[in-house]
Amino acid sequence: MENYDIWIDQAIDQYLETLVQSRLKSAIRYALSGTGKRLRPKLMLATIEARGFNAKDYASVALALELVHTYSLVHDDLPAMDDDALRRGQPTTHIQFDEATAILVGDALLSDAFRLISEAAQISPDKQSAMIRILAEKIGSKGMVYGQILDIASENTSGDVAQLMAINTHKTAHLLEAALMMGAIASNESNLERTEQLGRDLGLLYQIQDDLLEATSDEATAGKSFSDDRRKKPTYLTVLGLAKTQAMNDQYYASIQATLKALELEHTVLDELIQTIIHRTY
Ligand code: IPE
Ligand code: IPE
Ligand code: MG
Ligand code: MG
Repeated sequence: MENYDIWIDQAIDQYLETLVQSRLKSAIRYALSGTGKRLRPKLMLATIEARGFNAKDYASVALALELVHTYSLVHDDLPAMDDDALRRGQPTTHIQFDEATAILVGDALLSDAFRLISEAAQISPDKQSAMIRILAEKIGSKGMVYGQILDIASENTSGDVAQLMAINTHKTAHLLEAALMMGAIASNESNLERTEQLGRDLGLLYQIQDDLLEATSDEATAGKSFSDDRRKKPTYLTVLGLAKTQAMNDQYYASIQATLKALELEHTVLDELIQTIIHRTY
């Protein structure tokens, strides 16, 4: 697992080499830099390694997940959305460059993600198309993008748990599900439903943590702007209060442990990665 950052950096360099020198390329490089945790590519690589396959072969496909995630953040930070100035410890892409460039960076990253998967000659066409299908489904109008519009619509509402679940399942959990499911496809795992459940629980737990961190940490430590309060968005804390939010966190944790056991992935590199995510401080 200690090599994952190196592999991802190499895959980013190889990807950037395919782009023509331009303001767009500089802004793409910028958006991918900073203190990003690269959680989604790492989840895919760890799933593959945990199943005894060569994870390095999948570095460019894992990068596709990071490109999609980065596109979502660049657009999420735009003035028309969360209007945030700090991301990954540095000015957001539209502040560092300009809005038009930030919109185009997102467009390019999203398209290039699918190019990377379809160009991965080491993967069979069947696996490529299965991965492309899952990713498209999880991030499109039934997935992450739908979650983003639910999130925007929640501004200035008091919110309830069902609404938060719907927002967070779509905007955050679905991409984590895709990361784990793509890793499962790479390693010939047939039980995609359990894998999907693991991603769902992890995504929901991750989002609860994000809400907790926004209430207990600070922008400098997190490396990003905290805008939920300013934009009057309901969060687990505003809806449930601290004690119930923590209880919910524990419930997802227990479910994750049970699924890891059912998938026979306890005490693997994936388990280890999930533990570091669960105990994150930013
Ligand atoms: C932030 O994601 C947005 C959410 C979906 C909660 P990350 O916490 O994975 O952000 P980076 O990639 O490390 O910057
Ligand atoms: C970001 O959600 C989710 C996506 C970009 C899909 P948030 O807006 O809650 O996350 P942060 O706080 O900006 O990282
Ligand atoms: Mg947002
Ligand atoms: Mg945001």
